[in-house]
Amino acid sequence: MPNWLKNAVFYEIYPQTFYDSNGDGIGDIQGIESKLDYVKSLGCNAIWLNPIYDSPFMDAGYDVRNYYKVAERYGTNDDLKHLFETAHEKGIRILLDLVPGHTSDQNEWFLNSKKAEKNQYSNRYIWTDSVWEAPPQYKFICGVTDRDGNYLVNFFSSQPALNYGFNNISHPAWQLPPTHPDCQATVEALKDIMRFWLDMGCDGFRVDMADSLVKNEDGEKPETCKIWRNVREMLDREYPEAAIISEWCNPKVAIGAGFHSDFYLDHDNNGYRLLFREKDRQTGECQAIFGKNGKGDITRFLEEYTDDLKATKGKGYISFITCNHDTPRMTKMFTPLEAKIAYSFVFLMPGVPFLYYGDEIGMRFIDGLNSKEGGYSRTGTRTPMQWDDSKNHGFSDADEELLYLPVDHSADAPTVASQESDPASILNTIRKVIAIRKENEDLQSDGDFEVVYAKKNTYPFIFKRGQFLIAVNPSDKEQTAPFDFECEPVFTIGKICAAKKELTMLPQSLGLLKIK
Ligand code: NOJ
Repeated sequence: MPNWLKNAVFYEIYPQTFYDSNGDGIGDIQGIESKLDYVKSLGCNAIWLNPIYDSPFMDAGYDVRNYYKVAERYGTNDDLKHLFETAHEKGIRILLDLVPGHTSDQNEWFLNSKKAEKNQYSNRYIWTDSVWEAPPQYKFICGVTDRDGNYLVNFFSSQPALNYGFNNISHPAWQLPPTHPDCQATVEALKDIMRFWLDMGCDGFRVDMADSLVKNEDGEKPETCKIWRNVREMLDREYPEAAIISEWCNPKVAIGAGFHSDFYLDHDNNGYRLLFREKDRQTGECQAIFGKNGKGDITRFLEEYTDDLKATKGKGYISFITCNHDTPRMTKMFTPLEAKIAYSFVFLMPGVPFLYYGDEIGMRFIDGLNSKEGGYSRTGTRTPMQWDDSKNHGFSDADEELLYLPVDHSADAPTVASQESDPASILNTIRKVIAIRKENEDLQSDGDFEVVYAKKNTYPFIFKRGQFLIAVNPSDKEQTAPFDFECEPVFTIGKICAAKKELTMLPQSLGLLKIK
C-alpha cells in the first residue's frame, strides 16, 4: 500500500474545462500547471486527471486513439512530464485515467484488427466469426468492416471492447479463454501503457470500468480479478509507490482484486445515492439523507457501508466523492448550505476522498445544454471552472462561441474570487475541514469509524473517529440525541449544543467535536 494514500485528499480535474492557458477555448495542461497552487490551497495533495490521451473525443477522451500520446488540444507529452515534475515539487501526486476495457475505433490496434487479413491484432478485440453471428445478449457492431465478423462494444458504438477473454464460453468458435496467448497479450499491452506513464512520473491511475475486462462473468468476476492481481503484483514489484483506484463500486471485490481504493459511486439504490441524491421517482421530491426536508434514513446507508468497510479494513479504501464528471453535481438538488454540509461530511469519512473541481465553490449543474462529446445528461456537470468575474469567469480569453462549453451565465454564479474573502463560504469551509483532516490521523484514510447514534428515519446521525465525534443534522428542524461525552467543538456549521446527557443540534448543522 503506498503510504501517501493514508493522508491523501484528491481533486478531480476535467482538463477540458479547468483552465485554458492559450485562449483556444479549451482547458490544457499548462493551464492546470498554473493552478497547482490553487489546488494546494484547498489542502488537496493529489489530483485525478480525466483522460488526456489522443482521441477523436466521441466520449470526451474515454475513447483512446493513442495511449502513448497526449491529445494536441491539451499540449504535449513534455508538457505532461513537466506537470508531473512541478506537481511533485509542490507535494502533489497525479493519477492519470486508465481506460483498459476499450479503445476508440480509430486506435491503431483496431485499424489492424478490422482488416480481413489475419494479423497480430486480429484477436486484440472481440469478433464473431461471421457477420451473420450476433447473439442478442451482446452489443455488436455489424457489417461495417472488411473483416467477416461483428465486433463487441464496451460502451458507446465507437468503443470496441478489448479482448481479455470469456469466463463462461458459450460460443467456442470465437470466444477465447482468458488464458489464450492473445488475451494475455492484451494484459501485457496494458501493463506496458502503465509503465510508460509511470516512468514519465505519474503516480498511478484511476481505472475506468475496471470490472469490464473478462466477458461472461457475473458476481465476483474471478477472471477479471485475476488480471488486476497480476497488474498489482507488477506494481508492487516495479512501482511500489503507485496507486490504482477502481471505478467498480464494489469494494469487497475490487480491493480483493488488488485495487488500493474503490469509488463509492452514484448507483441505483446504493448507499451513496441514499446519502446525497435519492429522490422519489414519481414526484421528484428529495429523499436524500443530506436533504433539508429530512426524509432520509441513515440506517439504510449504514447497512451497506459498515459491511463494506469492515470487509476492506486494513486492505484498501472506499473513496467518497463530492461528485464526478458522470454524476449530477449535488447542487442540482441541494441548496448551497445543504451542499456545504454534505461536502464536509465527505471529508470527515474514512478512505481516500475526492473533490470534483468546482464543488468547492458550489458550482451548479447547468441544465439545457446540448450534449458535448458524448456527455448527454452528464454535460451540465462539465462546464468551465468559475475563477472570477472577468471574461468567461476567468476560464479562458477566447470568444464565447469558441468555449468547450458555455460558462454559468447566472448573475450569482459562484466564483473562487467571490468566495475567497468570506470565511463562511463553501470554499473556505471545505478548506477548513480538509486542513483539520490532514492534521489529525484519526480523521484520515485509516482512522476508525464507529456509529454512536443512528436511528431509522431519525436525525441527527453521530459517529466517532478516534478522539473525534462527528454529528450531522442536515434536516431543517432542531434535533436532539442522547449524549454521554465531554467534548469541545473543533469545527461547526450552524449551532450545536453538547450538554450533559443530550446533544441539541439546530437546523442544518454539523459538528466536529474533540472528546476530552
Ligand atoms: C466511465 C467514465 O467515467 C465515463 O465518463 C465514460 O463515458 C465511461 N466509463 C466509458 O469509458
